[in-house]
Amino acid sequence: MFPIKSFHTFFPKGDKIVGKRIFLLFLVLLSIQCKESPAIPTGLVTEEAMVVSAREEASAIGVEIMKKGGNAFDAMVGTELALAVAYPFAGNLGGGGFMVYRKNNGDVGAIDYREKAPLSASKDMYLDSLGNVIPGMSTKGATAVGVPGTIAGIFEVHDKFGSLPIKDILEPVIALVEKGVVVTQKQADRLDRYWDQIIEVNGDHTLFYSKCVAGDTLNYPALANTLRRIAENGRDEFYEGETARKLSAFIQERGGFVTEEDLAKYEAIWRQPIIFNYKDLRIISMSPPSSGGVTINQIFKMIEPYNIGKYGHNSPKAIQLLTESFRRAYADRNYYLGDPDFVEIPLDVLLNTNYLEERMEDFTFDKATKSEDVSHGVVDIVESSETTHYSIIDTQGNAVSATTTLNGAYGSKLYCDELGFFLNNEMDDFSSKPGVPNMFGLIGAEANSIAPEKRMLSSMTPTIVEKDGHLWMVVGSPGGSTIITAVAQTILNAYEFNLSMQESVNAPRFHHQWLPDFIIFEPDGFSEEFKDKLRAKAYSINEDRTPIIGKVDAIRVLADGRLEGGADPRGDDKAVGY
Ligand code: DON
Repeated sequence: MFPIKSFHTFFPKGDKIVGKRIFLLFLVLLSIQCKESPAIPTGLVTEEAMVVSAREEASAIGVEIMKKGGNAFDAMVGTELALAVAYPFAGNLGGGGFMVYRKNNGDVGAIDYREKAPLSASKDMYLDSLGNVIPGMSTKGATAVGVPGTIAGIFEVHDKFGSLPIKDILEPVIALVEKGVVVTQKQADRLDRYWDQIIEVNGDHTLFYSKCVAGDTLNYPALANTLRRIAENGRDEFYEGETARKLSAFIQERGGFVTEEDLAKYEAIWRQPIIFNYKDLRIISMSPPSSGGVTINQIFKMIEPYNIGKYGHNSPKAIQLLTESFRRAYADRNYYLGDPDFVEIPLDVLLNTNYLEERMEDFTFDKATKSEDVSHGVVDIVESSETTHYSIIDTQGNAVSATTTLNGAYGSKLYCDELGFFLNNEMDDFSSKPGVPNMFGLIGAEANSIAPEKRMLSSMTPTIVEKDGHLWMVVGSPGGSTIITAVAQTILNAYEFNLSMQESVNAPRFHHQWLPDFIIFEPDGFSEEFKDKLRAKAYSINEDRTPIIGKVDAIRVLADGRLEGGADPRGDDKAVGY
């Protein structure tokens, strides 16, 4: 430390003036240095490896696998499946997701294990004879279910990068199912909230659970059997084996569309991630059929010419700039993006710096742009955090950023008693009818219309950030349409506003998505006086809602190589490491 006490020892009488000047200069240099030195960690710090996920049990299983000698990819398989056990709200076998990785040699890539539309799907499948969207058909019960991708995804990752036998990875997961999972208060509240819908879809005989309170233990023996068969027979058990036959029969008996053929044809797909620079960061994020990477790329490039770091964290000026970039990026998202295997996406234009500068040309700090001047529509945002994200770094420095979902809370609410898991309602992420919003208030266009075997557009944004060429952050979030803005704010909190990883995750968030044309703010952290400043510039602020926005789980690599976790206190999320 700086030797303040020994000032007089260094500069004896006579030399004091010079000494004082040098001392002052030193203080100035020190203060500059302090401003630029990275934020002191406030989250869990570990030396070697870390997993941050929605439940301690899942993070602990990922860590246990790495302690056994597994790498981040092995840990991904274990964590993903453990979330299906400990966090059935979003963790899944019956859903899908995306993963972005960065190996310790700098190689990056991504895998898409998103659900897809069944073969019998058609553009108007959720419309009645008058062309109106049939309420609930794409959100609840068997008709909402897309072909699940999770098992294909994790096996594909394991085949390519795994180092431990799959049985060794599944062993602690099966042990967790057998032991049961203790219900937290937040989980009990969620179960209570969705109880009626789960009963409505499954009847009151469902084996998922009977009413429970915090502290109770939930057991899923059927899930243990399914996992044992998968451990024994591998990926094909789910897509062509006994599980496939039982699953397709179950869905069809309830009026759904997924067949044995659909399951047999499912494949996870390796994709080239979206990669772009923001100042001295290199950001690697998910490509279509997720909109996450493209939209976050647009946002960062639109704000790059401004010095947002100087505006102050969550200051009106910073929020204005971000809101205007969100507005423009979401307008493009909703119009242009869809499954790249079905639609032509003009990425070269959408990600072109000149194009993005032009998009911001009519922005001024004096007054809000109106979304109707960008496009039209009147819709509603439904806030939620029913997806789940986890971040992993292993001892060798490999990084995995994965976001996985059933879409809604407990997906379609359809629970297969015999197999022990919920099924997604991901079909609602398609645009059932152009111009009509989905459950996140997102208005789709032709690019995201339904077609057989097409993947529905997502907002999931698993992201990895390099700084000065080194791994710096692994980050992602649930939150439907708010995922992208939550991830963008977390990166900026750490990079531009020098918050620690945990502070960056904790910081209050806001969201705008073009339509509806209002900003939503989290309940704490933004005063009325602050909001008035924005109202004075013609920003509309949603007054009715006090949602949480996203639930970010992230890891930052510190300058000395240690890891700092950021586990979102909005949930039961937990960083575990060693
Ligand atoms: O893929 C998507 O964008 C949505 N299915 C994600 C759903 C989600 O984040 C649910 N939680 N809010």
